[in-house]
Amino acid sequence: MKGKVYSIGMIGCGVHARTRLLPALKYCRKARIAALADPARDLSAERAVWGGPKTYSDHRAMLDDRSISLDAVIVATPPDSHREIATFCMGKGKHVLLEKPVALTLRDARALVEARDRTGVKVMVGHQRRFSPMDNSVRDLYGKGLIGKTVAINAVHEFSSDSRGAATGYLKKRELSGGVIMEYACHDIDFFRYLLGAEAVEVYARVSSTHADDDTAALVVTFSNGVIANLTLSSCTVDEEHLEIFGTEGIIRSDRYRTVKAEIDLIKGLKDRKMRALKTFARGFKSLMLLKYAFKRNILAAYISEIGHFIDSIEEGKDPVPGLEDGIKAMEAADAAIRSGISGKPVRVCGPEECKGGAND
Ligand SMILES: NC(=O)c1ccc[n+]([C@@H]2O[C@H](COP(=O)([O-])OP(=O)(O)OC[C@H]3O[C@@H](n4cnc5c(N)ncnc54)[C@H](O)[C@@H]3O)[C@@H](O)[C@H]2O)c1
Repeated sequence: MKGKVYSIGMIGCGVHARTRLLPALKYCRKARIAALADPARDLSAERAVWGGPKTYSDHRAMLDDRSISLDAVIVATPPDSHREIATFCMGKGKHVLLEKPVALTLRDARALVEARDRTGVKVMVGHQRRFSPMDNSVRDLYGKGLIGKTVAINAVHEFSSDSRGAATGYLKKRELSGGVIMEYACHDIDFFRYLLGAEAVEVYARVSSTHADDDTAALVVTFSNGVIANLTLSSCTVDEEHLEIFGTEGIIRSDRYRTVKAEIDLIKGLKDRKMRALKTFARGFKSLMLLKYAFKRNILAAYISEIGHFIDSIEEGKDPVPGLEDGIKAMEAADAAIRSGISGKPVRVCGPEECKGGAND
């Protein structure tokens, strides 16, 4: 219905909901924060901050409350609870924006497809990089084909333990999070799939634990079009996120903390050393300008656009993208990486026909 403002219930009001999803929802013209549910938090203070939503300690009570008529929910709880909560919400006819990873285990994630198809609601997975202005500038530039044949990707995705803490501490425990691979790599793999239009077919991974279980990993992912991606991940070092895409004619690079747009260097231009030095200087200047806009431009904007797409899909009766199938594809590659870390050998990425259960099942 055009012009309608959709009532959204937030399930799980931990770090991610409070620092990104709820602030983003406040910017969404077509959505209103109608209710919050979390069993472990005193939500009374949150009411004033988020425009007076009703609050609950149990998401089931929230969905059964007829005084608020929710159109959709956002599930931002630890992954081991996603299957149960999302299935309950779908059963109540609510559209679901489900945080990544789809679930802790592949078995749980795949079970959600059946629940979605049975109930007919819309389900979207929170791989927000598809909506990030920075990542979309990478994709736009990449789409121009200027760097020739793509041969490799180098990606760094690191956090300090301060900036990516979870209120429940689930990230520290392998059995609750799947470690840094399931928690972060699924984002990168989803973005690479989106960028390359290809599937991850094989993964080799090394994993280590410094402050928490499996909090650092290095992955080599081979894609179906032959591109090799090198990805390092950690939650116990510094905040860094950058990406380099290497082609036969040049390189595209982006840096979440230093630039607002992807940049390209072609082999021709790189040969001119003066020009190369000037470009480095210009990049430094641009990153100074970014200081003022960094959070809104490179982080919050992605969530605003993601939630906007979710609401538009409901309104237009279309399937939101990324959907459950995309989320599961990213999980299958992450799962192969976890199994590779355990076996010390490269592991083929496989679907439900070949791999009924995954490393976390
Ligand atoms: N898309 C992204 O970029 C992104 C970024 C960070 C986190 N996440 C995802 O968001 C989810 C939550 O992460 P977080 O960092 O906020 O974790 P967190 O531990 O900080 O918060 C989780 C919250 O869920 C609550 N909760 C647990 N069970 C619940 C239930 N049954 N009903 C309602 N609330 C319940 C907890 O009490 C807690 O407050 C995870 O799936 C994580 O992977 C996504």
